[in-house]
Amino acid sequence: MPPRTSASPSRRSGVEPFHVMEVLKAAAQRQRTHGDVLMLCAGQPSTPAPAAARSRAVEVVDAEVLGYTESTGILPLREAIARHHRRSAGVDVSPEDVVVFPGSSGAFTALFLAAFDVGDTVAMTRPGYPAYRNTLQALGCRVLELDCGAATRYQPTVAMLDALPEPPAGLIVASPANPTGTIIDSHVLAELTEWCEEHGTLLISDEIYHGLSYGRPTASAWETSREAVVVGSVSKYFSMTGWRLGWLLAPAALRRPLEVLTGNLNICAPAISQHAALGAFTEQARVELDGHRDRYAATRDLLIRRLPEVGLRDYAPPDGAFYAWCDVGHLTDDSVTWCRDLLDDCGVAITPGVDFDTAQGHTKVRLSFAGSTAEVAEALDRMAASPLLRGRG
Ligand SMILES: Cc1ncc(COP(=O)(O)O)c(C=O)c1O
Repeated sequence: MPPRTSASPSRRSGVEPFHVMEVLKAAAQRQRTHGDVLMLCAGQPSTPAPAAARSRAVEVVDAEVLGYTESTGILPLREAIARHHRRSAGVDVSPEDVVVFPGSSGAFTALFLAAFDVGDTVAMTRPGYPAYRNTLQALGCRVLELDCGAATRYQPTVAMLDALPEPPAGLIVASPANPTGTIIDSHVLAELTEWCEEHGTLLISDEIYHGLSYGRPTASAWETSREAVVVGSVSKYFSMTGWRLGWLLAPAALRRPLEVLTGNLNICAPAISQHAALGAFTEQARVELDGHRDRYAATRDLLIRRLPEVGLRDYAPPDGAFYAWCDVGHLTDDSVTWCRDLLDDCGVAITPGVDFDTAQGHTKVRLSFAGSTAEVAEALDRMAASPLLRGRG
């Protein structure tokens, strides 16, 4: 160990970076030199916030002080979120159940602190969203990765939990999931929720991609138990990533710790975003946002049609979100270099799987279809012509 200096980073800060950032950097460099980059690597909508949210933001900038708000979020927003869940999942949610945070990312940090102690084990899927793993590890928790493949739609099952030596302190389920886009069957989610309640495991149900599904129904963990935590965000369906606003539906016992922790960590979520989000929960916004979802659906159909043509035949069923999780094991065993080469060859930026799957990510890639259908079509044309794929499928 090097000697400690006053600015030595902590051991806990030594978590994995997001390797996708390297792709973004290389893509920005290519854009400067060639100006031809097609970004299929971003995990975010390419559209702005709905018009009703933007006009509210403009109004409140002039009309309100926009100082700190109450730490759990302004009451009208918590009311709107409660109504949203009542409407979308038919669950009985009141504003007291809702705690608002700076993005669901901020919610996860506060929740992990509120619910887990150093050394606690928390289970998540592999492949899965890497920030769960990295944040938990930075907080001193043990992460247990459940190996989830095509046979279970890349989602966990009760059989996997029964096979563990002891029940974990927590289980994180995401549906629709990132990076796979798969949706967990409602009866499987209900079984997992019941198992967790019986075994003293906190079920954390990441539902931030709800609203972006293409035929397969989504279920909420609160349909089965209010001892689970539901995670929401305006980032995906609502097309408001940069506004940094997320929320939890929290079991009664966790509400006060969450309020105290977010008061200390964040004081509150951005006031302007809280006011703007009121516009995102209106009927006018829903029409606009459903339009984006319909466009994603059309692009997804195009991908499903053309992925085999470019040699990518093995991919997870893209039930929801805006991702296709593809196997490239027949083309490479180093997805980072392969994605780099693809960018160099034809200007298409996609994400190597290593962020999401610590075991098999070197033979996987994630394509995002959040951009325009024309952009994705052009990317597929270029990939079809690339020697990195051509004739190898
Ligand atoms: C599954 C999942 N959960 C949580 C997040 C964090 O989203 P945000 O902090 O923007 O709400 C993301 C972002 O991509 C995600 O994919």
